[in-house]
Amino acid sequence: MDTSLSTDFLQLIKTRRSIRGPLLDATVAISDDEITMLMDAARFAPSGSNAQSWYFILIENKSIIEQFVTLTKEKVEEISKAIEGQSHAAEISLYLKNFYSFAGAPYLMVFCIRKRDNPLMRYLRVGDKFKDELLALSNTEIISISMAMENFALMAHALNIGTCVMTGPLLVREQMEKILELHASYSIVALSTVGKIRKVGEVAEIDKNYEMNVPRRKDIDKILKRVK
Ligand SMILES: Cc1cc2nc3c(=O)[nH]c(=O)nc-3n(C[C@H](O)[C@H](O)[C@H](O)COP(=O)(O)O)c2cc1C
Repeated sequence: MDTSLSTDFLQLIKTRRSIRGPLLDATVAISDDEITMLMDAARFAPSGSNAQSWYFILIENKSIIEQFVTLTKEKVEEISKAIEGQSHAAEISLYLKNFYSFAGAPYLMVFCIRKRDNPLMRYLRVGDKFKDELLALSNTEIISISMAMENFALMAHALNIGTCVMTGPLLVREQMEKILELHASYSIVALSTVGKIRKVGEVAEIDKNYEMNVPRRKDIDKILKRVK
């Protein structure tokens, strides 16, 4: 194995950060070549039975993004109101603000999957006999698109493009699907901000206090059990 390539690759993985709306520069466009590279990275991800039951919508329309922000914000306010008076209500309300932190993003990528498209479910005509066993496979499409999302995020990072995968806005998934006129057989799994990272002079905003701002990771010995 080429060690410099693997070290660089690990470095790329470790330095990717979630870049939310305010850190993205709405005045700089993403080129068609960059979009092609991002999509190549996404579509070369593995997928269950190579079904590739995914669909991507790149929103380049500012008013649609603003509409999504407004809808999510309204829903968050509704939830915050409903929990008023409960313990930790203030903390939770603050946390919920992260659900619309894509505000200001110049582009939004919408990751969708085709619902109930597991090929095994379709081809194995065994009635209800193995229902429970086959249910274990029901996450296949979500896992597949998650792999595509990570490829997308890492490719973006290599291109100095910021992304932040988000599920918070799914609070208003149905409304978003309606606005996008998404076919009924598809459903939105996550969104991601996309855009060039804002710079102050030559320094990208994300680089200010970078080390301090890296979200801590659990130690390997806390999350890995080795069975020999
Ligand atoms: C499935 C998923 C959902 C997420 N949803 C949100 C979200 O709704 N709002 C947000 O601001 N960040 C969201 N994030 C970003 C995480 O907060 C972020 O990945 C985490 O804090 C680690 O930071 P890093 O990505 O910079 O390493 C999400 C990430 C994932 C993988």
